[in-house]
Amino acid sequence: MSVRFNLKKSALLATVILIAVSIAQFAQSTSNNRYWMKIRAKDKFERSVIANIVGIENTTEDYVVAFGGDTELKQIQKLGWLMSYSNLADEAMFSGKDFPTKDSAFHNYAEMTAELTKLANENPTLVTMGSIGKSTEGRDTWVLRLGADQSHASEKPAVIYMGGHHAREHLSMEMPLMLAQHLVAQYKAGNERIVGLMNNRDIHIIPMVNPDGAEYDIQDGSYKMWRKNRSRNANGTFGTDLNRNYSYKWGTGGSSTNPNSDTYMGTKPFSEPETINIKNYVEAHTNITTLLSFHTYSQLILYPWGHKYDGLENTKDAQVFETMAKKMAEWNKYTPQQASDLYIASGDTTDWAYGEHKIFAFTFELDPSQSSGGFGGGGFYPGAGVIQPVFNKNIEPALYLMEYADNPYRTINVSIGPIGPIPNP
Ligand code: ARG
Ligand code: ZN
Repeated sequence: MSVRFNLKKSALLATVILIAVSIAQFAQSTSNNRYWMKIRAKDKFERSVIANIVGIENTTEDYVVAFGGDTELKQIQKLGWLMSYSNLADEAMFSGKDFPTKDSAFHNYAEMTAELTKLANENPTLVTMGSIGKSTEGRDTWVLRLGADQSHASEKPAVIYMGGHHAREHLSMEMPLMLAQHLVAQYKAGNERIVGLMNNRDIHIIPMVNPDGAEYDIQDGSYKMWRKNRSRNANGTFGTDLNRNYSYKWGTGGSSTNPNSDTYMGTKPFSEPETINIKNYVEAHTNITTLLSFHTYSQLILYPWGHKYDGLENTKDAQVFETMAKKMAEWNKYTPQQASDLYIASGDTTDWAYGEHKIFAFTFELDPSQSSGGFGGGGFYPGAGVIQPVFNKNIEPALYLMEYADNPYRTINVSIGPIGPIPNP
């Protein structure tokens, strides 16, 4: 009898524990707590361990600043490297409608749409506007195609610029917009170099890859610190990290299988409309040879590989990437490095663009170099005052990628030819 009783009792106990655990897990997975964490890490290896758990936003020589929820915080605590953390909710950071008034120079989706439409309408011989497809929530993802000879665009070497893979990186969406406006204005002003580029290049600009996320981040009067898109996950959470969702070596490190995570890789490569849109667009334009994906922040120029520490197998290509990154760094003073020198991350735009299509693809992590005052949203929300100066220092790097789109290998040759059409293979 006592055995039976004990059995019953332990079964009951087990059930109670099971229920308690599931409640705890449920509470955990739906908790909205999100934390800034300062985590000790001295090299790319330690940073990669951390990147497997949490989204790293900034690095220094001896620590990283990361952002994540309760689950991630616990995992990081277990590592024993946590220096400090703060709950985002504790930091009454921002208020206002739309963008806070002080940041009204940034463009929300409607304002971005209006600016792009205006540029295209006013300059029909220089700019074509199109949609590369709908976002998860049904927004058009705009692309501008620029060039002075639109009917022969596909015969010219092409470059593509994109911004806004990550929702809260609003500065990354301003850069492509301003580049388009700059090209048109300078062309019309008779700037010889720009006229040459507009005559001989096919220029593609997608300022807002993740419009749903960008809108969500600013929708109700306070910044949401949102990174991912807004697709609904099976467990009721939202969002896939679009810069972990590309197919090349997808899911091989530095991305998460947990839908709650900020670096969630998605259910499969290209599971998201936003990344499929980019894939289809890039693959439809086989003349694209150089690519720049704007992100914020940290002041870095990154190039493949990002999914592993090894450099490119093709040493000539490696030399081109390195040369180009160093050259661009002379202008913007950012740090040029292989992406995995920062930390391992798989499924990003540039590994895919190079790995699948041999496109010379770069990620810029724009200003600032670090978040102001330690924690807070400072790194992602540096204020409207940075827009113009950050654009100014990135014009030359952007034009450089345009110029060498005809043959990026020219960058490692001593003689540099004129801007011309694609040389015959
Ligand atoms: N910070 C960006 C991101 O997390 C860029 C990642 C670049 N790739 C890498 N392997 N570190 O998406
Ligand atoms: Zn980013």
